[in-house]
Amino acid sequence: MILAIESSCDDSAISITEIATKKLLFHKKISQEIEHSVYGGVVPELAARLHAEALPKILAECEPYFDKLKAVAVTSSPGLAVTLIEGVTLAKAVAVGLDLPLIGVNHLIGHIYSLFIEKETEFPLTVLLVSGGHTQVMEVTSLTQIQTIAKSMDDSFGESFDKVAKMMGLGYPGGPAIQALAQGGDRLRFNFTIPLLRTPKLAFSYSGLKNAVRLAVEKSQKEDYKDIAASFEHIATKHLTHKLKKYFQLHPPKTFAIVGGASANLYLRGEIQKLLAPYQAKLLLSELQYCSDNAAMIGRVAVDMYKEKMFTSLEELDIVSKSNL
Ligand code: KG4
Ligand code: ZN
Repeated sequence: MILAIESSCDDSAISITEIATKKLLFHKKISQEIEHSVYGGVVPELAARLHAEALPKILAECEPYFDKLKAVAVTSSPGLAVTLIEGVTLAKAVAVGLDLPLIGVNHLIGHIYSLFIEKETEFPLTVLLVSGGHTQVMEVTSLTQIQTIAKSMDDSFGESFDKVAKMMGLGYPGGPAIQALAQGGDRLRFNFTIPLLRTPKLAFSYSGLKNAVRLAVEKSQKEDYKDIAASFEHIATKHLTHKLKKYFQLHPPKTFAIVGGASANLYLRGEIQKLLAPYQAKLLLSELQYCSDNAAMIGRVAVDMYKEKMFTSLEELDIVSKSNL
């Protein structure tokens, strides 16, 4: 079995995955949404302190599995340095204490593998990753062959939902709150401009849209917020489908996946489904509970890394002390 730890942002999570069957034997996550909500976003130092409390508590519940462990996996990057350190330090302690090899897992590969929890992998795959930290399109051929096709030049898709929600006083995380508010709204009332419409560049940008929404919020009454939320969600999604449509002209999709916390967005899922229909492409989605950060996805990557003997030394797992890796 492999014990896997995730602490790259505001979720403390640990999983136990059986190597031979990929079965998820244990998974527990303690989210910090309530604690960060008053600030309208994640406060890194607060997050680190909460990880330091939560992770040892979850680890104590894993003790019955300790004598069956073959490796310890941990999210090593990208993420907030001060929170990554909490998971990495604990992973090192367990690895040294139980004399086990360490596996450092890339968080983005983790999101891709959220599709394969308790399942076999399915490659090649075109992936849209939409989370709080990232917006990117990737061609994934295997565990180690990942080509980035397009990424955001500024804010991410999920982050833009968080910021718009903050403007409307809806707390953190903003994605679910905006989605709920948008349901009763008029998607066409606020005619926000689709970002990067006139450039052929395959890239994303959400800062301009965020500023346009800020102006609309400032000029509007509370009863207009649902129309602003709906129009914002519509254009934020249209930006993704517009760029993907361009990419598909030369690279028609066969198997397409949406992963990351914001892949839970139902409007986005529906629009991507419409976009894929003419190609008869298969759409893969993670289970809703595994869209946002979790340790099950890290454990699933670790199973494949273990089989390839992709271990990491204690020294290699040092986190560089930058605020955002
Ligand atoms: O993957 P994740 O848990 O953390 C990162 O790795 O960043 O993603 C969290 C992000 C937040 O920005 C949150 O607002 C967004 O995912 N999110 C959503 C929805 N649910 C979560 N965004 C839009 N619609 C949703 N339903
Ligand atoms: Zn994530």
